[in-house]
Amino acid sequence: METGSPRSELKITSWTILLFSLLFFSSISSTEAYDSLDPNGNITIKWDIMQWTPDGYVAVVTMYNFQQYRHIQAPGWTLGWKWAKKEVIWSMVGAQTTEQGDCSKFKGNIPHCCKRDPTVVDLLPGTPYNMQIANCCKGGVINSWVQDPSNAASAFQVSVGVAGTTNKTVRVPKNFTLNAPGPGYTCGQATIVKPTKFITQDGRRTTQALMTWNVTCTYSQFLSQKTPTCCVSLSSFYNETIVDCPTCACGCQNNITQPGSCVEGDSPYLASVVNGPGKKSFTPLVQCTSHMCPIRVHWHVKLNYKEYWRIKISITNFNYRMNYTQWNLVVQHPNLDNVTQIFSFNYKSLTPYSATINDTAMLWGVKYYNDLLMEAGPLGNVQSEILFRKDMSTFTFEKGWAFPRRIYFNGDNCVMPPPDAYPWLPNASPSLTASLIPPLMVFCAVLAYLLGYLY
Ligand SMILES: *[C@@H]1O[C@H](CO)[C@@H](O)[C@H](O)[C@H]1NC(C)=O
Ligand SMILES: *[C@@H]1O[C@H](CO)[C@@H](O)[C@H](O)[C@H]1NC(C)=O
Ligand SMILES: *[C@@H]1O[C@H](CO)[C@@H](O)[C@H](O)[C@H]1NC(C)=O
Ligand SMILES: *[C@@H]1O[C@H](CO)[C@@H](O)[C@H](O)[C@H]1NC(C)=O
Ligand SMILES: *[C@@H]1O[C@H](CO)[C@@H](O)[C@H](O)[C@H]1NC(C)=O
Ligand SMILES: *[C@@H]1O[C@H](CO)[C@@H](O)[C@H](O)[C@H]1NC(C)=O
Ligand SMILES: *[C@@H]1O[C@H](CO)[C@@H](O)[C@H](O)[C@H]1NC(C)=O
Ligand SMILES: *[C@@H]1O[C@H](CO)[C@@H](O)[C@H](O)[C@H]1NC(C)=O
Ligand SMILES: *[C@@H]1O[C@H](CO)[C@@H](O)[C@H](O)[C@H]1NC(C)=O
Repeated sequence: METGSPRSELKITSWTILLFSLLFFSSISSTEAYDSLDPNGNITIKWDIMQWTPDGYVAVVTMYNFQQYRHIQAPGWTLGWKWAKKEVIWSMVGAQTTEQGDCSKFKGNIPHCCKRDPTVVDLLPGTPYNMQIANCCKGGVINSWVQDPSNAASAFQVSVGVAGTTNKTVRVPKNFTLNAPGPGYTCGQATIVKPTKFITQDGRRTTQALMTWNVTCTYSQFLSQKTPTCCVSLSSFYNETIVDCPTCACGCQNNITQPGSCVEGDSPYLASVVNGPGKKSFTPLVQCTSHMCPIRVHWHVKLNYKEYWRIKISITNFNYRMNYTQWNLVVQHPNLDNVTQIFSFNYKSLTPYSATINDTAMLWGVKYYNDLLMEAGPLGNVQSEILFRKDMSTFTFEKGWAFPRRIYFNGDNCVMPPPDAYPWLPNASPSLTASLIPPLMVFCAVLAYLLGYLY
């Protein structure tokens, strides 16, 4: 008894240390509001007052997506705020509120919206010209800064009444919320900044807003509380095993509790669902697979030359309800510092840390060629090959070195197979450390998940 207790005490202490260090690591890696691959990424919402009116002002509101790879896809953004006083919206151009609210106090002219907390959505493409302003009417879709900076903004005009009419009496709106389309963004307070300057098209005159305020919103994968939406599978020329996505990576097939959670590609039922009443729905309808992910990214180590090696990447869409326009991939691999050639995808190196680590790149489709990843089916895939130049001091096919460390599809982290399942080189076996990693990773993931609910 007495000899046993110090030992168990020791055990407890070391476990406590391990637990605390894990808690520490998982909390810094997952609860921070920014993305380590895009630390300055944010969406900035700018209000420029262009004109004072007898009872308020006219403002142009512009949302800039300053994120390198995270974009806003269909069904688009939803912006909300709370008026500081009793403001109303007389009219809007290039967007609309989802509800009018109670305008019964008004006679004659009826405002567009009388709610204290309006919710605004973009208008759809094809809106008549007299209801448009520049950068509006794209169904709330905003591209990422790297992929297409000319389409990385969205704007609308709002005429506000029952409001301040000078820069001393006007009150900035509060409690901004941004859904893009789901949760995930947190917006800070509006701050009054230097008025925006506008340069005329001929460049010969500069005008300026009467007053400007900015709101910054940042994304956290944590807040979005999304189940994974993509997974990674692996194969190589040196081992015939194809390592599929982990089972249940994005959900499990369960026809008892969730009938119709997936469909078989050849079932007659499919046509009726895809063309049925849910046609316009944005909830994924996936093909039945063991992983149940809408997107699978396959990484194949294809060839080994003396000074180079070559991989093939294929992205497959298993979602019958979604064409992914302007899709993108972020890939982390140590050899991305020395890419010789990329076929049929666009490529940009993201150097988030410093000049010394250069292992992350963004890939996306070539316009009008493969920038549209079609719905599940025979056309629902895009592919590319990458030729790397070997750095002899680091290059190896052992221990899964040739496989990616991390992959994001449209900004969402894809579920990787556990390292000990990677295809081995013949006559090699995964090292002890590799077999220890999966249980640790699972443990960390569970902790990180729990922490997400605590914070
Ligand atoms: C938002 O992003 C822009 C562009 O990267 C950057 O200049 C700005 O400092 C960022 N704002 C915040 C509050 O991080
Ligand atoms: C408000 O307008 C006055 C001039 O009318 C100007 O001096 C002042 O800087 C403005 N304040 C803000 C916050 O824009
Ligand atoms: C609005 O934001 C303020 C802080 O700016 C906060 O105290 C308040 O609880 C928020 N209200 C709502 C309804 O979110
Ligand atoms: C406000 O936002 C605009 C547009 O994003 C940006 O150019 C400006 O620098 C921002 N101002 C501040 C003080 O962050
Ligand atoms: C689940 O239901 C779908 C649609 O009826 C069917 O295609 C699929 O085979 C079922 N899956 C299982 C595992 O029973
Ligand atoms: C995807 O695009 C094709 C061709 O543009 C179209 O026929 C199809 O209906 C689209 N599918 C979805 C789910 O939007
Ligand atoms: C990072 O890699 C890219 C692509 O290979 C290259 O263009 C860039 O110069 C590299 N940057 C550094 C700092 O090595
Ligand atoms: C790429 O590889 C070549 C040959 O190994 C080497 O000389 C060069 O420095 C590498 N470039 C980078 C950015 O690592
Ligand atoms: C291929 O890799 C798997 C692990 O994914 C391993 O079980 C198998 O033995 C390997 N095959 C050969 C021929 O080494």
